[in-house]
Amino acid sequence: MSESTENPAPAEITEAAVTAAVTAALAAISTAADSAALKAASREHAGEASPLSRLNALMRSVSKEQKAAAGKLVGQARGRVTQALAAREAEIGAAEAAAKLAAETVDVTAAASTWHAGARHPLALLQERVADVFVAMGWEVAEGPELESEWFNFDALNFDEDHPARAMQDTFFIDPPEAHLVLRTHTSPVQMRALLSRELPVYVVAPGRVYRTDELDATHTPVFHQIEGIAVDKGLTMAHLRGTLDHFVQALFGPEAKVRLRPNYFPFTEPSAELDVWHPTFKGGARWIEWGGCGMVNANVLRSAGIDPEVYSGFAFGVGVERALMFRNDVKDMHDMVEGDARFSQQYGMTV
Ligand code: FA5
Ligand code: MG
Repeated sequence: MSESTENPAPAEITEAAVTAAVTAALAAISTAADSAALKAASREHAGEASPLSRLNALMRSVSKEQKAAAGKLVGQARGRVTQALAAREAEIGAAEAAAKLAAETVDVTAAASTWHAGARHPLALLQERVADVFVAMGWEVAEGPELESEWFNFDALNFDEDHPARAMQDTFFIDPPEAHLVLRTHTSPVQMRALLSRELPVYVVAPGRVYRTDELDATHTPVFHQIEGIAVDKGLTMAHLRGTLDHFVQALFGPEAKVRLRPNYFPFTEPSAELDVWHPTFKGGARWIEWGGCGMVNANVLRSAGIDPEVYSGFAFGVGVERALMFRNDVKDMHDMVEGDARFSQQYGMTV
């Protein structure tokens, strides 16, 4: 619709013409839904080309006697429209401000999406520290599978088919039984894997995760970590084992740490010993703590690996990482090590 049809130019100032202009203006103003529509209504009904402005322009040709009445009529009409515009502008402004606020609402009770940095687990840090100690002595670091064949976990380590030790280890056997797979019960299967995959001499340390059907309590967990060591060379004796362990515990616990070996039995070492460690600052006081097992590699194990026990000899040891964290870093309960609360790990930082 063109403006001229919409706003036909009035010929003279009559009450009807003024009323028509005001009615049209008020209708347009009250139906304007937003500030843009209101602006358009204002231009059309109160702007220079609007009927009211043009009526006002006719004032020039009104006779002297009628000027006052006509002026009052047009003036009041313009006043009503101006007021209506101002009132509607205030309404629309308030509504638009409220809508904007609603759109920008911040729920101060909502959970914050702050990003928290995690932390390396102290068990991982401790295993790396031990690996560093052995690498510094020229040893290699190796790994073995956690899902292990029964042969590596038991048979190759000289456990008899019916040996009580096989049951003693409280093993998780994997279905089907004829696959002869277990979750390794110790890191000792890496001994045989290291011997089969390397030329002699062998000096290997192997940290890793192991599994037993133990209940989770303050000092046991069904999933824990051990560090295995195996050395096979010409002329190795218990003295080399002892010297290596002395250096190991002093590097890990401090220069005053001591090692004690108590006779024990493991099918894969002969002689075998329980490995105890002592340190004056151990949490809970200076005392001997059982940490693992060790011994001279059994001749049958060497033979299984195709090594002549008349020419070569070796020693091996295996220690518990969780236990070390308990008496070295004063962790009183193994639950803390397995529950995965980052705050537990964060207290250690990047070194342990
Ligand atoms: C062994 O596992 C032998 N393989 C060690 C060995 C290696 C002997 C090489 C000779 C030569 P044992 O079952 O005692 O040994 O376990 C060794 C250490 O693992 C224990 O002293 C303890 O520190 C840790 N350990 C055992 N069971 C658990 C458990 N449930 N939770 C946490 N640590 C455990
Ligand atoms: Mg033991």
